[in-house]
Amino acid sequence: MAQIISGKEVSQRVRERIKLEASELFEKTGKKPGLAVIIVGEDPASQVYVRNKAKGCEEVGFHSEVYRLPEDTKMEELLALIEKLNNDCNIHGILCQLPLPKHLDETEVILAINPNKDVDAFHPVNTGKIMIGNYSFLPCTPAGVMELIASTGVDVAGKECVVVGRSNIVGKPQAMLLLQKNGTVTICHSKTKNLKETTKRADILVVAVGRANFITGDMIKDGAIVVDVGINRNEEGKLVGDVHFESAEKVASYITPVPGGVGPMTITMLLQNTLTAAKEQIK
Ligand code: GUN
Repeated sequence: MAQIISGKEVSQRVRERIKLEASELFEKTGKKPGLAVIIVGEDPASQVYVRNKAKGCEEVGFHSEVYRLPEDTKMEELLALIEKLNNDCNIHGILCQLPLPKHLDETEVILAINPNKDVDAFHPVNTGKIMIGNYSFLPCTPAGVMELIASTGVDVAGKECVVVGRSNIVGKPQAMLLLQKNGTVTICHSKTKNLKETTKRADILVVAVGRANFITGDMIKDGAIVVDVGINRNEEGKLVGDVHFESAEKVASYITPVPGGVGPMTITMLLQNTLTAAKEQIK
Protein backbone atom coordinates (compact mmCIF):
# COMPACT_ATOMS: atom_id res chain seq x y z
CA MET A 1 0.00 0.00 0.00
CA ALA A 2 1.36 3.40 -0.99
CA GLN A 3 2.30 6.13 1.45
CA ILE A 4 0.23 9.26 0.93
CA ILE A 5 2.18 12.43 0.09
CA SER A 6 0.28 15.17 1.91
CA GLY A 7 0.30 18.40 -0.07
CA LYS A 8 -1.22 20.12 2.96
CA GLU A 9 1.71 19.17 5.22
CA VAL A 10 4.45 19.96 2.70
CA SER A 11 2.69 23.21 1.83
CA GLN A 12 2.46 24.21 5.50
CA ARG A 13 6.20 23.64 6.01
CA VAL A 14 7.11 25.70 2.94
CA ARG A 15 4.69 28.49 3.93
CA GLU A 16 6.21 28.74 7.41
CA ARG A 17 9.64 29.29 5.84
CA ILE A 18 8.23 31.89 3.41
CA LYS A 19 6.54 33.72 6.30
CA LEU A 20 9.79 33.83 8.24
CA GLU A 21 11.77 35.10 5.25
CA ALA A 22 9.11 37.76 4.53
CA SER A 23 9.29 39.02 8.11
CA GLU A 24 13.11 39.15 7.93
CA LEU A 25 12.83 41.15 4.70
CA PHE A 26 10.38 43.54 6.39
CA GLU A 27 12.71 44.05 9.36
CA LYS A 28 15.62 44.84 7.05
CA THR A 29 13.86 47.02 4.47
CA GLY A 30 10.43 48.01 5.84
CA LYS A 31 8.88 46.44 2.73
CA LYS A 32 6.52 43.52 2.27
CA PRO A 33 6.42 41.31 -0.82
CA GLY A 34 3.47 42.56 -2.92
CA LEU A 35 1.32 40.52 -5.30
CA ALA A 36 -1.29 41.92 -7.70
CA VAL A 37 -3.90 39.52 -9.04
CA ILE A 38 -6.10 40.50 -11.98
CA ILE A 39 -9.34 38.69 -12.75
CA VAL A 40 -11.55 39.53 -15.71
CA GLY A 41 -15.17 38.32 -15.70
CA GLU A 42 -17.12 36.00 -13.44
CA ASP A 43 -15.76 32.47 -14.00
CA PRO A 44 -16.64 30.76 -10.67
CA ALA A 45 -13.55 28.49 -10.52
CA SER A 46 -11.29 31.51 -11.17
CA GLN A 47 -13.06 33.47 -8.41
CA VAL A 48 -12.22 30.70 -5.93
CA TYR A 49 -8.56 30.53 -7.05
CA VAL A 50 -8.18 34.29 -6.76
CA ARG A 51 -9.72 34.37 -3.27
CA ASN A 52 -7.34 31.61 -2.17
CA LYS A 53 -4.35 33.47 -3.59
CA ALA A 54 -5.26 36.60 -1.60
CA LYS A 55 -5.81 34.46 1.53
CA GLY A 56 -2.40 32.82 1.01
CA CYS A 57 -0.75 36.26 0.84
CA GLU A 58 -2.39 37.31 4.08
CA GLU A 59 -1.28 34.11 5.82
CA VAL A 60 2.42 34.72 5.08
CA GLY A 61 2.34 38.50 5.67
CA PHE A 62 2.44 39.72 2.06
CA HIS A 63 0.75 42.80 0.65
CA SER A 64 -1.86 41.82 -1.96
CA GLU A 65 -4.16 43.66 -4.34
CA VAL A 66 -6.97 42.08 -6.33
CA TYR A 67 -8.27 43.82 -9.47
CA ARG A 68 -11.72 42.58 -10.52
CA LEU A 69 -12.52 43.76 -14.02
CA PRO A 70 -15.84 43.31 -15.83
CA GLU A 71 -16.31 40.67 -18.55
CA ASP A 72 -16.43 43.33 -21.31
CA THR A 73 -13.07 44.91 -20.36
CA LYS A 74 -11.17 46.10 -23.45
CA MET A 75 -7.66 44.94 -24.24
CA GLU A 76 -6.32 48.53 -23.93
CA GLU A 77 -7.78 48.82 -20.42
CA LEU A 78 -6.22 45.55 -19.29
CA LEU A 79 -2.85 46.47 -20.80
CA ALA A 80 -2.98 49.90 -19.14
CA LEU A 81 -3.55 48.26 -15.73
CA ILE A 82 -0.62 45.86 -16.30
CA GLU A 83 1.60 48.80 -17.29
CA LYS A 84 0.62 50.67 -14.12
CA LEU A 85 1.46 47.58 -12.01
CA ASN A 86 4.75 47.05 -13.90
CA ASN A 87 5.74 50.52 -12.66
CA ASP A 88 4.40 50.16 -9.09
CA CYS A 89 7.32 49.63 -6.70
CA ASN A 90 5.04 48.11 -4.01
CA ILE A 91 4.02 45.32 -6.40
CA HIS A 92 6.68 42.68 -7.04
CA GLY A 93 4.52 40.02 -8.67
CA ILE A 94 1.67 40.29 -11.19
CA LEU A 95 -0.69 37.47 -12.07
CA CYS A 96 -3.53 37.66 -14.56
CA GLN A 97 -5.90 34.78 -13.89
CA LEU A 98 -6.54 32.57 -16.95
CA PRO A 99 -8.64 31.77 -18.88
CA LEU A 100 -9.55 35.27 -20.06
CA PRO A 101 -12.82 36.06 -21.85
CA LYS A 102 -12.60 35.09 -25.54
CA HIS A 103 -12.19 38.63 -26.90
CA LEU A 104 -8.92 39.14 -24.95
CA ASP A 105 -5.60 37.85 -26.29
CA GLU A 106 -3.86 35.81 -23.55
CA THR A 107 -0.51 35.76 -25.34
CA GLU A 108 -0.45 39.54 -25.58
CA VAL A 109 -1.35 39.83 -21.89
CA ILE A 110 1.46 37.46 -20.86
CA LEU A 111 3.93 39.43 -23.00
CA ALA A 112 2.85 42.70 -21.36
CA ILE A 113 3.85 41.61 -17.85
CA ASN A 114 7.41 42.63 -16.90
CA PRO A 115 9.30 39.28 -16.85
CA ASN A 116 10.79 40.26 -13.46
CA LYS A 117 7.23 40.40 -12.04
CA ASP A 118 5.91 37.37 -13.94
CA VAL A 119 5.34 35.11 -10.92
CA ASP A 120 3.44 32.58 -13.09
CA ALA A 121 6.63 32.13 -15.17
CA PHE A 122 4.51 32.18 -18.35
CA HIS A 123 6.45 34.94 -20.19
CA PRO A 124 8.72 33.55 -22.95
CA VAL A 125 11.73 35.12 -21.21
CA ASN A 126 11.00 32.97 -18.18
CA THR A 127 10.06 29.80 -20.09
CA GLY A 128 13.32 30.26 -22.05
CA LYS A 129 15.29 30.59 -18.81
CA ILE A 130 13.76 27.34 -17.57
CA MET A 131 14.94 25.61 -20.79
CA ILE A 132 18.55 26.63 -20.08
CA GLY A 133 18.33 25.97 -16.34
CA ASN A 134 19.00 29.57 -15.31
CA TYR A 135 15.75 30.74 -13.75
CA SER A 136 14.43 32.91 -10.94
CA PHE A 137 10.82 31.71 -11.15
CA LEU A 138 9.47 28.24 -11.69
CA PRO A 139 5.92 27.70 -12.94
CA CYS A 140 3.84 27.09 -9.82
CA THR A 141 2.29 23.67 -10.46
CA PRO A 142 5.42 21.87 -11.75
CA ALA A 143 7.48 23.48 -8.96
CA GLY A 144 4.94 22.19 -6.42
CA VAL A 145 5.21 18.70 -7.90
CA MET A 146 9.02 18.81 -7.49
CA GLU A 147 8.61 19.76 -3.80
CA LEU A 148 6.24 16.82 -3.28
CA ILE A 149 8.68 14.41 -4.95
CA ALA A 150 11.54 15.85 -2.84
CA SER A 151 9.48 15.28 0.33
CA THR A 152 9.68 11.50 -0.24
CA GLY A 153 13.48 11.66 0.05
CA VAL A 154 13.81 9.81 -3.29
CA ASP A 155 16.50 11.22 -5.60
CA VAL A 156 15.25 11.90 -9.16
CA ALA A 157 18.72 11.39 -10.69
CA GLY A 158 18.82 8.40 -13.02
CA LYS A 159 15.13 7.55 -12.51
CA GLU A 160 12.72 6.81 -15.36
CA CYS A 161 10.33 9.77 -15.23
CA VAL A 162 7.17 9.78 -17.33
CA VAL A 163 5.00 12.88 -17.68
CA VAL A 164 1.54 12.28 -19.14
CA GLY A 165 0.33 15.56 -20.69
CA ARG A 166 2.19 18.23 -22.68
CA SER A 167 0.56 21.55 -21.75
CA ASN A 168 2.64 24.72 -21.63
CA ILE A 169 1.57 25.25 -18.00
CA VAL A 170 2.34 21.78 -16.61
CA GLY A 171 3.56 18.96 -18.88
CA LYS A 172 6.35 20.72 -20.78
CA PRO A 173 7.90 22.64 -17.85
CA GLN A 174 7.46 19.56 -15.62
CA ALA A 175 9.60 17.53 -18.01
CA MET A 176 12.29 20.25 -17.94
CA LEU A 177 12.40 20.33 -14.12
CA LEU A 178 12.73 16.53 -13.91
CA LEU A 179 15.48 16.68 -16.54
CA GLN A 180 17.23 19.38 -14.50
CA LYS A 181 17.34 16.89 -11.62
CA ASN A 182 18.92 14.33 -13.98
CA GLY A 183 15.84 12.17 -14.51
CA THR A 184 15.45 10.23 -17.76
CA VAL A 185 12.29 11.87 -19.03
CA THR A 186 9.55 10.77 -21.43
CA ILE A 187 6.54 12.93 -22.29
CA CYS A 188 3.33 11.13 -23.31
CA HIS A 189 0.29 12.73 -24.95
CA SER A 190 -2.92 11.94 -26.82
CA LYS A 191 -1.06 10.53 -29.85
CA THR A 192 1.29 8.30 -27.82
CA LYS A 193 1.10 4.66 -28.88
CA ASN A 194 1.19 1.98 -26.18
CA LEU A 195 0.71 4.45 -23.33
CA LYS A 196 0.56 1.67 -20.75
CA GLU A 197 3.91 0.24 -21.89
CA THR A 198 5.52 3.64 -21.26
CA THR A 199 3.78 4.50 -17.98
CA LYS A 200 4.69 1.05 -16.62
CA ARG A 201 8.38 1.92 -17.00
CA ALA A 202 8.06 5.00 -14.79
CA ASP A 203 9.79 5.16 -11.41
CA ILE A 204 8.24 8.63 -11.16
CA LEU A 205 4.91 9.19 -12.92
CA VAL A 206 3.37 12.68 -13.18
CA VAL A 207 -0.10 12.84 -14.70
CA ALA A 208 -1.65 16.08 -16.00
CA VAL A 209 -4.21 15.29 -18.69
CA GLY A 210 -7.48 16.57 -17.21
CA ARG A 211 -9.39 13.27 -17.58
CA ALA A 212 -10.95 11.61 -14.53
CA ASN A 213 -9.34 8.29 -13.53
CA PHE A 214 -7.36 8.11 -16.80
CA ILE A 215 -4.41 6.18 -15.31
CA THR A 216 -5.28 2.94 -13.55
CA GLY A 217 -3.24 0.67 -11.25
CA ASP A 218 -2.39 -1.79 -14.04
CA MET A 219 -0.53 1.04 -15.88
CA ILE A 220 1.79 1.72 -12.93
CA LYS A 221 5.13 0.10 -12.04
CA ASP A 222 5.43 -1.59 -8.66
CA GLY A 223 6.88 0.91 -6.18
CA ALA A 224 6.50 4.00 -8.40
CA ILE A 225 6.01 7.54 -7.10
CA VAL A 226 2.71 8.78 -8.58
CA VAL A 227 1.87 12.48 -8.66
CA ASP A 228 -1.64 13.37 -9.81
CA VAL A 229 -2.07 16.95 -11.08
CA GLY A 230 -5.67 16.46 -12.29
CA ILE A 231 -8.74 17.96 -10.67
CA ASN A 232 -11.94 16.61 -12.25
CA ARG A 233 -15.50 15.95 -11.17
CA ASN A 234 -16.73 12.39 -11.68
CA GLU A 235 -20.32 11.38 -12.52
CA GLU A 236 -21.34 11.77 -8.86
CA GLY A 237 -19.89 15.28 -8.75
CA LYS A 238 -17.02 14.20 -6.49
CA LEU A 239 -13.51 15.70 -6.99
CA VAL A 240 -11.17 13.10 -8.48
CA GLY A 241 -7.74 13.17 -10.09
CA ASP A 242 -6.42 11.87 -13.41
CA VAL A 243 -5.27 8.72 -11.56
CA HIS A 244 -7.69 6.04 -10.34
CA PHE A 245 -6.61 6.31 -6.71
CA GLU A 246 -7.98 3.03 -5.31
CA SER A 247 -6.19 0.81 -7.84
CA ALA A 248 -3.04 2.99 -8.01
CA GLU A 249 -2.39 3.07 -4.25
CA LYS A 250 -2.11 -0.73 -4.22
CA VAL A 251 0.87 -0.58 -6.62
CA ALA A 252 2.68 2.72 -5.96
CA SER A 253 5.16 3.38 -3.13
CA TYR A 254 4.04 7.03 -2.77
CA ILE A 255 0.96 8.73 -4.18
CA THR A 256 -0.65 12.18 -3.97
CA PRO A 257 -4.37 12.37 -3.16
CA VAL A 258 -6.96 14.59 -4.88
CA PRO A 259 -7.88 16.88 -3.22
CA GLY A 260 -4.99 17.58 -0.80
CA GLY A 261 -2.02 16.72 -3.04
CA VAL A 262 -0.73 19.04 -5.74
CA GLY A 263 -3.55 21.60 -5.24
CA PRO A 264 -2.31 23.16 -1.96
CA MET A 265 1.24 23.39 -3.37
CA THR A 266 0.40 25.57 -6.35
CA ILE A 267 -0.44 28.71 -4.36
CA THR A 268 2.48 28.04 -2.03
CA MET A 269 4.87 28.13 -4.99
CA LEU A 270 3.23 31.35 -6.18
CA LEU A 271 4.04 32.84 -2.77
CA GLN A 272 7.61 31.55 -3.12
CA ASN A 273 7.93 33.25 -6.53
CA THR A 274 6.53 36.51 -5.12
CA LEU A 275 9.08 36.41 -2.29
CA THR A 276 11.89 35.75 -4.80
CA ALA A 277 10.67 38.64 -6.97
CA ALA A 278 10.49 40.98 -3.96
CA LYS A 279 14.02 40.12 -2.82
CA GLU A 280 15.35 40.81 -6.33
CA GLN A 281 13.49 44.11 -6.70
CA ILE A 282 14.06 45.50 -3.21
CA LYS A 283 17.83 45.02 -3.43
N1 GUN B 1 -5.63 29.47 -14.23
C1 GUN B 1 -5.50 28.19 -13.77
N2 GUN B 1 -4.26 28.01 -13.25
C2 GUN B 1 -3.60 29.19 -13.40
C3 GUN B 1 -2.30 29.62 -13.04
O1 GUN B 1 -1.46 28.87 -12.51
N3 GUN B 1 -2.01 30.92 -13.34
C4 GUN B 1 -2.90 31.75 -13.96
N4 GUN B 1 -2.51 33.00 -14.23
N5 GUN B 1 -4.12 31.37 -14.30
C5 GUN B 1 -4.46 30.10 -14.02
